[in-house]
This record gives sequence, C-alpha cells and structure tokens, in this order.
Amino acid sequence: MKKAQKKDIKGKKVLVRSDLNLPIEEGKPVKSLRLKRYADSLREISSKGAKTVVMAHQGRPGDKDFGSLKDHVPLLEQELGRDVGFVNSFFGEELPRTLEKMDEGDICLLENVRFLSEEIRKGSVEKHSNDFFVKHISSYFDAYINDGFSVAHRPHGSMMGFIGRLETFSGPLMSEEVKECSKARDAVENPVLVLGGAKPSDIVKMLENMIDRAKKVLLGGIPGEIALKLRGVPLDKKYSWIKDRKLNKGEKELLDLMKENQDKFVVPVDIRNEKGEVSVSKLDGTEMIWDIGPKTSKKYAEIIDEADSVIMKGPMGAYEEGFKRGSLEVLEEVKNCDGFTLLGGGHTSTLLNQSNFSVNDFSHVSIAGGAFVRFMSGEDLPVIEAISKYS
Ligand code: 3PG
Ligand code: MG
Repeated sequence: MKKAQKKDIKGKKVLVRSDLNLPIEEGKPVKSLRLKRYADSLREISSKGAKTVVMAHQGRPGDKDFGSLKDHVPLLEQELGRDVGFVNSFFGEELPRTLEKMDEGDICLLENVRFLSEEIRKGSVEKHSNDFFVKHISSYFDAYINDGFSVAHRPHGSMMGFIGRLETFSGPLMSEEVKECSKARDAVENPVLVLGGAKPSDIVKMLENMIDRAKKVLLGGIPGEIALKLRGVPLDKKYSWIKDRKLNKGEKELLDLMKENQDKFVVPVDIRNEKGEVSVSKLDGTEMIWDIGPKTSKKYAEIIDEADSVIMKGPMGAYEEGFKRGSLEVLEEVKNCDGFTLLGGGHTSTLLNQSNFSVNDFSHVSIAGGAFVRFMSGEDLPVIEAISKYS
C-alpha cells in the first residue's frame, strides 16, 4: 500500500475517506477514541500541505444513529484546534467553490456519504468507479487517501470507487492499523488472547484462525459465561437471559474449540452481580452474572504477567451497565505487561475512552469493530485488497 509523502500531496486537492461514525446521544454525536484517532490522522495529512476534503458516514438508512455530519464539525474542530469547513451538497457549485477558496492544509468535511443511494451497494473498484457520484466528485480532486480501516470490510462506493479514478494512497491510520493488527495476527509469538464482549460468534472465527499459535485463551463477558455452562456450571437464569437476546450464537463452535484445546482455555472462577462476588463453585443457577470476579482477575493477571504478547477484544463484563471492575483490573494487567499488547473491537476502545487508561499504555489500540474481528479472523478485507492492488 502506497503512503502519501509530503511531495506527493503538497498543494493538491485530496479527498480523504475517513470514519467518523460516532455514538449518538440525545441526537448529537459524542467524542470517542475513534474521533481522536481519525482527527490525528487528518492533522498529519493536512500538515503535508494538502487541501483536505473528508468524506465519512454516520449510521445507515433506517438506523437510529443515521444522520447529518454537521454536528461532527465542532467536535472535529475541538480535536484539531482549528476551523473545519462543511459542504452540504455533493453536486452543484458548493464543492468546487469551497475547493477554490481553500488554502494548503485547510480541512473541510462533506455531508454523510450514506445520504447517497449509490453508496451502500457492495461492489468492486470497477463497478463503483462508474457510480455517478464517484465520477462527478473525483473530477475535482488530484488524489484519494483511504484512511478508513474501521470500514475496510464494506466495499461501498466511497471506499472502492475513487481507487479506480484517482491516484490512491493509504492513510496514516489505515497504514498503522494494518501494520499493527498484522503483527498481532501473524507475527507475535505465543499470544495470550483475552476475549470477552457479547456473542461467542464474534470471537470464534478469530479463535479458529489464531488458536494454534495462542498460548492461552482467557474468556470473559458472555463467551466466558457460556464456557462455564459448557463445562457444566449451573447457569440457568443468566443463560435464559442470554438466549432471549440471541446472544448464544456461535456457542457450538466455541464448544468444539474448547474440546479440541482443553489446556488452552481458562474460564472464570468467580463472578460479580448486584449482590457482590460469588465463587463459580457456589453458583446454583438462580443468580445473574454481570462481570468476572476478583479471583478471576487475579488468575488472569498471573497469566498476562508472563505473556510475551497479549491481544484483548471485548470487555469482561457489562461495563455499559456499570460493571466495569473486571475489565479495568484486566486492562491494568495488560498495561503492565512488558510484551506487545493490542486492544481491539468497538467496545474495547469505548471502555478505554471512559476509563483512565490512555492509548499509550498499550502497543496498539485498534478503533475498529467489525473490521478488526474480520481482519484478525484472517479474512481478506475487500478495501485493503483493493488499495494494495491499485496503489
Ligand atoms: C463501524 O462503526 O464499525 C464502521 O463505521 C462501519 O459502520 P457500519 O457497520 O454501519 O457499516
Ligand atoms: Mg453501525
């Protein structure tokens, strides 16, 4: 993948596909680690002297979080400490006029690209380079930078089409994510995998790809609870709750993996709920479970302490409901690990953002959700394939 150098983009009109898909609260976007990371990357691009026009999305048609990017402008301005322009319309005079007025290094955001019906179709570079909006918009630009690692699993118009029309570079964050996640996936020795979050289906493909190289797999969150059930612990009340929400998807595959790799899987020895901490041996099926307990954190800490590398995905408990302690205790240990440490998954970076940890406490923090899981599962992400082929 070709990276944009100063000489390549200085003074050029550059279209950057970023990912500013943010959590929406009371109708407004809120700051997140994702915003900060993409803003840092935009700063780097604009500092090379590019007239930087950013294309991004928010939600998708029909979803509650679908809407304009207008309110993202002040958030970006705060992150960047500078003015950011906004272009409402993809067609007409607004975009060329704005570009004419922009100085080297200026940054401007385009409206939500998913307002365009052509955007959310899956397609190849060849197909999307013939989308009407792609043909039209590319005529105003000298180069295209794709920085959207966290959207790299979506072969949409704005992710693929411009690759076929403009000189293409990989953005700073895209390059860093691919480098660090590749290292974690393919190169680090004997990684300890710490896997939590919601459905087991979110982690089974990642496990199938990495289990042979993994030293240990420490389970938390719903996968950890399901693993306890698979090992015969009475869990009736919580398991009904899980099943009612269809969060048991992937449990059969998880069971198969556990059977084939008995010695690698480590499961919780105690849990937390509204009433406090309970040993797994005392569970009788009538309790709810919301987090791993302190003995489990301690056990996991001993394994993490001796690890050469740690890859963590998903919180250990229902942190959004206030059950954060298990996740924070484990994160503290990952922070103290001397080896290579990587955190990934949408919820993991949100958790980090809401705690006192910083991205510098770890070797790398991926801000991707679905794209991260697919990448770590060994899937080829269509957008990364396309950038590599064409740039
Ligand atoms: C994300 O938030 O994971 C990316 O922005 C992709 O969004 P999508 O799942 O709506 O395509
Ligand atoms: Mg979404």
